[in-house]
Amino acid sequence: DTHDPSALRTPIVAVLGHVDHGKTSLLDKVRGSAVIEGEAGAITQHIGATAVPLDIISSMAGELVNPDDFDLPGLLFIDTPGHHSFTTLRSRGGALADIAILVVDVNDGFQPQTLEALDILKRSQTPFIVAANKIDTVPGWNPQEDAPITQTYESQSERTRQRLDENLYKIIGNLSDEGFSADLYWRVQNFQRNVGVVPVSAMTGEGVPDLLAVMMGLSQRYMKEEMEIDVAGPGVGTVLEVKEEKGFGTTIDTVLYDGTVKKDDTIVVGGLNEPIVTDVRALLQPRPLAEIRTENRFENVDEVGAAAGIKIAAPDLEDAMAGAPVRVVRNRNLDDVIAEVQAEL
Ligand code: GTP
Ligand code: MG
Repeated sequence: DTHDPSALRTPIVAVLGHVDHGKTSLLDKVRGSAVIEGEAGAITQHIGATAVPLDIISSMAGELVNPDDFDLPGLLFIDTPGHHSFTTLRSRGGALADIAILVVDVNDGFQPQTLEALDILKRSQTPFIVAANKIDTVPGWNPQEDAPITQTYESQSERTRQRLDENLYKIIGNLSDEGFSADLYWRVQNFQRNVGVVPVSAMTGEGVPDLLAVMMGLSQRYMKEEMEIDVAGPGVGTVLEVKEEKGFGTTIDTVLYDGTVKKDDTIVVGGLNEPIVTDVRALLQPRPLAEIRTENRFENVDEVGAAAGIKIAAPDLEDAMAGAPVRVVRNRNLDDVIAEVQAEL
């Protein structure tokens, strides 16, 4: 058998930050640009996540991303809520991520949930970059749709540039107060030691090419080995949310970071009191462009491979816990898998 089962999976990117600083808008911008590139179908909406393949990243980033320089398949973005009451979801997202984008409103600067997100990244030792968002709101800004930051920076007046710089250096100072040595991303040599700050606008798309290029570069340089997985092996993931779903009962929104999960697979899920052993009834993905509140919001799929966001419907999930591990048993010994799940709780 000459088949090589190991392959590189998509890195998982968590988007974190204070409420209203523009996390969802940034992802919308990435999705929207792909539609304009005529590649809407190539972007797939997952449960709680958006997958953007390398060729789309490359067409959005222009000369900043040459697809020949990369062998990772793209990026899987996980959006997280910024509202203070969603601490658990933020820490799940942060802990699960391979890398992260900390979104900071360039005018608003550091806020309580910025600090909280930073703590999560510190604890989980997740490498991250800072997107200094809403640069288009700097007084006197002259927008250059979808342009790389160097280009748009040069077309601003001296006065506007100074205003932006002041805000950017405030953010760099705040990062330093929290123990992170940071600089504007084009001055960063080693992204493992220094945090890169990328000025962007989710509204005009300025700096988005840079953001994508930095994320892709970071993943390729520092994450590649961790992305090597047994693509056909039994799946491993984390529960993001436990949700009641009409017609399906209790379901678990799961981010799969290794292997595959198939319909009828036996899975072990971390539960309130003990690991839950159950069989997958349905694997559900959002329908492309589906209306949020229609009946048939989901599409049934037979199999999903990492990295992916998937809703799993199965009996006995009432006691499943957000943040708990999910493991597919398949050809493995059930007791071993139960013990692994137990150890992770
Ligand atoms: P939560 O999910 O509630 O934490 O917020 P969020 O971080 O996802 O922020 P969201 O993307 O919902 O944006 C909040 C508001 O800021 C919206 O009104 C956006 O239109 C606006 N906004 C986001 N990014 C930009 C930007 O780059 N420029 C401008 N001018 N407005 C922006
Ligand atoms: Mg949001």
